Amino acid sequence: MHKLYVAMVGLPARGKSTLARRLRDGLVREGIKTQIFNNGDVRRSLLGAESIEPDFYNPQNAFGREAREMICRRNMELAREWLNSGGDVAILDATNASAARRASLEQNLSDWPMLFVECLNEDTLLLDACIRRKVDLPEYANMSDEAALENFLKRIAYYESIYSPLDREKFWLRVDSTANRILGEKPCESSPYYPAIREILVNYWVESLFLVRHGQTEFNVQGRIGGDPMLTAKGREQARALAGCLVPNNIAWVFTSTRLRSHETAAPLLAEKPGVHTMAFTEFDELWAGDCEGMLYSEIREKMPEVTTGRNADKYGYAYPGGESYATLRKRVQQGLRRALFLAAGAPLVIVGHQAINRVLLTIFLRCRNEDVPYIHIPQNQYYHISLTAQRKVFERVAYGA
Ligand code: F6P
Repeated sequence: MHKLYVAMVGLPARGKSTLARRLRDGLVREGIKTQIFNNGDVRRSLLGAESIEPDFYNPQNAFGREAREMICRRNMELAREWLNSGGDVAILDATNASAARRASLEQNLSDWPMLFVECLNEDTLLLDACIRRKVDLPEYANMSDEAALENFLKRIAYYESIYSPLDREKFWLRVDSTANRILGEKPCESSPYYPAIREILVNYWVESLFLVRHGQTEFNVQGRIGGDPMLTAKGREQARALAGCLVPNNIAWVFTSTRLRSHETAAPLLAEKPGVHTMAFTEFDELWAGDCEGMLYSEIREKMPEVTTGRNADKYGYAYPGGESYATLRKRVQQGLRRALFLAAGAPLVIVGHQAINRVLLTIFLRCRNEDVPYIHIPQNQYYHISLTAQRKVFERVAYGA
């Protein structure tokens, strides 16, 4: 019989709870009975308002320190009981920031091996977004956003003052929680669950992604590239049809580029779903055509024939003078996708991109020869729905407008 404790480690807003849930869901899908024991949930239910003030987290504050240790002990007992009554993996979700706390976990829960999983989030954009999201926690319901943010930053500073990275612990994994990457490990080879845990941490599953191209613009009608045009009447109609089609889905996030046509396409959907989060990423801005921005394809053929010849010879690798190629685009698109998937944390998401961007996004999921990427059909009245998990592989194109 094998059982395992998994203890999360990391400063607040580093993606610990998101990763803990991903681990639980992934292990449960494998038939491994897994449960999360979250110290924050116990603290909120036992202490409520008493634990909101940053000073509660001050290591010099004896009351706060005792209360947090008591909560930790309570969850240790619950986790032990749960493993001994049929569970397989108990996940202790807390900061577990100090070496002393971790030593106490290892000592008190010595009946089964303990694997520490340390979460790092060094992407400043994502870290900032995660910190700002904490403002929505129920404990901050009676505070202004600014006051809640200030409060939470002070709490983080107290944790920073006691934080030490994993090192002496017996078994551990250090992960970049925003990039599904393992940064270091002391493997727990004796546990049959270790390979599954590693696999879940590095895998790039997408529960439900709706990949949309912006609606028609005047530039599209004319055959003009780039720029920042607005939608035509037909484009706005496509955006409304898109909203009608996507509303029944449980969408949590809509990511756009920073271009007007992408915002305008997302607008009706956002208006119908006011609770949905949205963020604009420059990573999803259309292929930059440099000196050719705003020109007609026919003008380019006439005035800059070397561009047309270059693209015809190698459309994937050719970069516009002063601009980008599909090949150079890939890196930023990948970064945008990584960020979007991290923020959505497994919930259904929409990306409203552009022709070249969506070609690259699609081929991150579907393997295809580089030379074929710039010729993939990306209509303005159909979206791609992608769902790729261990159990389910869905890749469908759905029509919604004229
Ligand atoms: O034509 C619309 C557009 O989004 C342009 O802004 C962009 O340069 C182009 O598509 C990318 O497609 P292609 O590489 O086939 O020209």
